[in-house]
Amino acid sequence: MRLHRAVLWLVLGGGVLSAAAGTLAADGPAKPDPQAVERTREQVRMLDALYKSAVVSITKNYVNQQADVPAATVAKDVFQAMKAGRFHHARLIDVTGKPKNPDNVATTAFEKAAVEAIRSGKEYVEELAEVDGRPVLRAATPVPAVMPQCIVCHGKREKNLLGALIYEVPVK
Ligand code: HEC
Repeated sequence: MRLHRAVLWLVLGGGVLSAAAGTLAADGPAKPDPQAVERTREQVRMLDALYKSAVVSITKNYVNQQADVPAATVAKDVFQAMKAGRFHHARLIDVTGKPKNPDNVATTAFEKAAVEAIRSGKEYVEELAEVDGRPVLRAATPVPAVMPQCIVCHGKREKNLLGALIYEVPVK
């Protein structure tokens, strides 16, 4: 995974910290147009509502027992299609320390920081970064156990929190 070349803006639920990651480039990346960033945030809000309502509806209508195919598996197929189409990257990861699938854990610096922030109660975490010289918005939102079926498979968890949705969306 490519390291961000310059200063990242890590926004934790309103408070702004700057975090230097990797080696600092002489001039830093050009800051993306604030209106483009706002449009990308709107896209993240739309995607978050879309993925969450799909997972809840699939679970409500089709998933009753441990043996059923979980909505997370369907979501992963959709994430793969979105990635293949170069639209955005999304991941559903664990925040409990006990994932159903050990692949679904935070791996990047952003994901690890987001898991910590969400565990401490943050509802939204974001960071502006560059990938291959292009600006991206990374964002994370909490995934709570919103219905009894979630508990059937995942068990009861602290603060009813199971995971996080992670997004990386190009800023255009
Ligand atoms: C039928 C059992 C089942 C139900 C019901 C279920 N899940 Fe899952 N969940 C799984 C399995 C299995 C995985 C791993 C899927 C994979 O990676 O292929 C998973 C993965 C996840 C992950 C990623 C982290 C991890 O544990 O691997 C989250 C977060 C998650 N589910 C949240 C939910 C929520 C929220 C609900 C209720 C709306 C829910 N799940 C309902 C079985 C279930």
